[in-house]
Amino acid sequence: MAGIWKLASVALFAVSITAQNSTYVNPAVPTGTPVAGVYTGSLRPQIHFSPPKGFMNDPNGMFVDANGTWHLYYQLNPTGIVAGNQHWGHATSNDLYHWINQPIALFPPEETVYVFSGSAVVDSNNTSGFFPDQDNGVVAIFTLARYYDDGSAGPQTQNIAYSRDGGYSFEYYDENPVIDSTSSQFRDPKVSWYEDHWVAVIAYSQEFNIGIFTSPDLKDWTFASNFTPHGLLGTQYECPNFVKMPVRDADGAVIDEKYVMAISIQPGAPLGGSITEYFVGDFNGTHFTTSDAVTRLTDFGKDNYAAQYFYGIPDGQNQINMGWASNWQYAQKVPTGNLEGWRSIMTTPRVNYLTEAPRIGLVMIDELYDLTPILDDQLNASIFNGSGTLALDYSSVESGALYLEVNVTNINTTLLTEYSTLNVSFASPASGEILQSGFYFSGDTPFFVNRGGIKGFDNVFFTDKFSTSDVYSTGSGDGLASWSMKAVIDRSIFEVFVDGGIHAGTVLFYPQQPLTALNLAARLHPGARISVNVRSLKSTWAEFENENGTVLGNVTDSRS
Ligand SMILES: *[C@@H]1O[C@H](CO)[C@@H](O)[C@H](O)[C@H]1NC(C)=O
Ligand SMILES: *[C@@H]1O[C@H](CO)[C@@H](O)[C@H](O)[C@H]1NC(C)=O
Ligand SMILES: *[C@@H]1O[C@H](CO)[C@@H](O)[C@H](O)[C@H]1NC(C)=O
Ligand SMILES: *[C@@H]1O[C@H](CO)[C@@H](O)[C@H](O)[C@H]1NC(C)=O
Ligand SMILES: *[C@@H]1O[C@H](CO)[C@@H](O)[C@H](O)[C@H]1NC(C)=O
Ligand SMILES: *[C@@H]1O[C@H](CO)[C@@H](O)[C@H](O)[C@H]1NC(C)=O
Ligand SMILES: *[C@@H]1O[C@H](CO)[C@@H](O)[C@H](O)[C@H]1NC(C)=O
Ligand SMILES: *[C@@H]1O[C@H](CO)[C@@H](O)[C@H](O)[C@H]1NC(C)=O
Ligand SMILES: *[C@@H]1O[C@H](CO)[C@@H](O)[C@H](O)[C@H]1NC(C)=O
Ligand SMILES: *[C@@H]1O[C@H](CO)[C@@H](O)[C@H](O)[C@H]1NC(C)=O
Ligand SMILES: *[C@@H]1O[C@H](CO)[C@@H](O)[C@H](O)[C@H]1NC(C)=O
Ligand SMILES: *[C@@H]1O[C@H](CO)[C@@H](O)[C@H](O)[C@H]1NC(C)=O
Repeated sequence: MAGIWKLASVALFAVSITAQNSTYVNPAVPTGTPVAGVYTGSLRPQIHFSPPKGFMNDPNGMFVDANGTWHLYYQLNPTGIVAGNQHWGHATSNDLYHWINQPIALFPPEETVYVFSGSAVVDSNNTSGFFPDQDNGVVAIFTLARYYDDGSAGPQTQNIAYSRDGGYSFEYYDENPVIDSTSSQFRDPKVSWYEDHWVAVIAYSQEFNIGIFTSPDLKDWTFASNFTPHGLLGTQYECPNFVKMPVRDADGAVIDEKYVMAISIQPGAPLGGSITEYFVGDFNGTHFTTSDAVTRLTDFGKDNYAAQYFYGIPDGQNQINMGWASNWQYAQKVPTGNLEGWRSIMTTPRVNYLTEAPRIGLVMIDELYDLTPILDDQLNASIFNGSGTLALDYSSVESGALYLEVNVTNINTTLLTEYSTLNVSFASPASGEILQSGFYFSGDTPFFVNRGGIKGFDNVFFTDKFSTSDVYSTGSGDGLASWSMKAVIDRSIFEVFVDGGIHAGTVLFYPQQPLTALNLAARLHPGARISVNVRSLKSTWAEFENENGTVLGNVTDSRS
């Protein structure tokens, strides 16, 4: 959670204090029933999570329960379209694409003490003692950030709340805070389980340390070590994540496991504003040591920040994360706020593991989580020999959302020239707007995305061209190389996974008219095989709309 919103937030609304289990509830904010939302706007993603109304930032508290229900909480300002007045919004899913909006899960304890970012765990062994007769108790741990009347920041402390109904409603622990502090820059605890104790990583944001704390019971925490300044600093560290991942060989077999420390930096990212870096290493229960001196980034775009990894993935399996698809440089200015009453999207769910990429070594792979539940019609499947073009009018796809897959095989690198390229673009014939992407198979082998041809948002920080360099594999001994890309486009967000997810790019765009025309052009050499598949995606929100086009969420709640 960034500090930049703070001046905007404090005195936005007339207040009347309602004491309810010692939380502060603004009369404009519903309790016990979800915030209703309209998901039909032309910029509203149809297969991504976005909040029903208001301003969203970091994902929080993500866990999967024993029934396979995924819980996503998120920083929510339910009373405005800029950051401030932070609550924890809540949504659940059985497939990570269909999200059911739930009642707000955490309310501020006082009018100007906000519930900042944090995490949640299932305390199946009742280590906390909060759960007399159940194994599905949930404990959330988060930062409470106090602000004074003049808008200045007070202390940030770490606090817990527990849920006896599987994560739908929470009660604050009556001996909070569990980690006290006088610092106004100490936040975003992420908790995981290590053999026989809990581990929390927490950012000392402006000292560039990640504090590692341990606890037997989620209540009593002991400082264990600092992960001292590493990599890019930006001007703050935020939202640390600490997670064990399998290391897989080229055939997908698990050959090792390593810890990943992910740190979001903001502001001051190399591309401007916010970005996430990560470090690979080992952990012994109290200390994290990196395996090398390399700083790696999770995204080559500008719109993937503060990602969190779900708690509850069984040991040894791939991890799964979702990030906040935005950047503090313009998150509070993007046009969805004034046009449609909401701001910010979560990324698609991504499956993560480590593998050795050609030349650059260990990287965290980002694969799209299983799309099967939302795949719709096959719009085109083509195989080109050497070169080809495909033009697809998808104006009849109601969701406006597509999935694209391209495999290029039998590449003879000695036959490549500087003109050997593959381009994919999405355009609006009505407005002439265009979102471009493409790959150069020779030279520095760059992959690029260009949102400069989209005209609905003009902001000096909304920079328009992104690229990465992909050293693709020269294959298995026959001397022929292969390369692939996968992409999802969803009204105002484009996510591309290059070369099996070695590189991921997350790019927002705000068209004046919907994009409805896909163009693909490939030019390699005779014998190179280009296999393309384009599918429409089913709107997940449309399924939950009532007769008036409103998504009410879980209104079956017995507490209301
Ligand atoms: C929360 O507050 C409500 C209203 O005051 C009360 O009915 C309820 O029992 C409280 N819940 C707990 C667990 O204290
Ligand atoms: C799983 O679902 C059952 C039946 O709905 C419910 O009783 C149980 O509490 C759920 N378990 C968890 C972990 O939420
Ligand atoms: C729960 O207890 C079992 C048995 O002692 C132990 O193996 C496991 O690590 C514990 N897990 C958690 C999350 O407490
Ligand atoms: C959970 O812990 C509390 C406090 O120690 C205890 O009273 C309760 O019996 C425990 N429940 C279970 C199921 O172990
Ligand atoms: C973990 O590593 C630290 C730093 O090397 C060391 O001081 C500590 O004793 C180690 N702990 C265990 C349990 O090995
Ligand atoms: C796919 O697109 C190509 C090129 O535009 C076209 O020739 C082909 O008929 C299309 N195939 C399908 C299944 O629509
Ligand atoms: C690649 O092309 C070169 C030049 O035509 C040719 O000599 C070579 O055999 C080709 N390699 C393969 C693996 O086909
Ligand atoms: C792809 O786009 C680039 C940049 O505009 C252009 O130079 C190249 O010729 C295009 N390639 C194809 C196959 O159209
Ligand atoms: C691809 O085209 C080349 C040259 O036109 C031809 O020799 C080759 O047989 C074709 N390959 C396939 C799989 O059709
Ligand atoms: C690309 O290759 C993968 C792995 O072999 C395969 O599962 C997928 O269907 C291919 N996609 C296309 C469009 O050829
Ligand atoms: C839809 O809107 C109409 C007119 O405002 C209202 O009467 C009706 O109750 C609404 N239906 C639902 C399901 O909210
Ligand atoms: C609705 O919320 C209740 C808890 O209040 C929960 O038990 C139930 O599973 C939820 N239903 C859905 C469809 O999310």
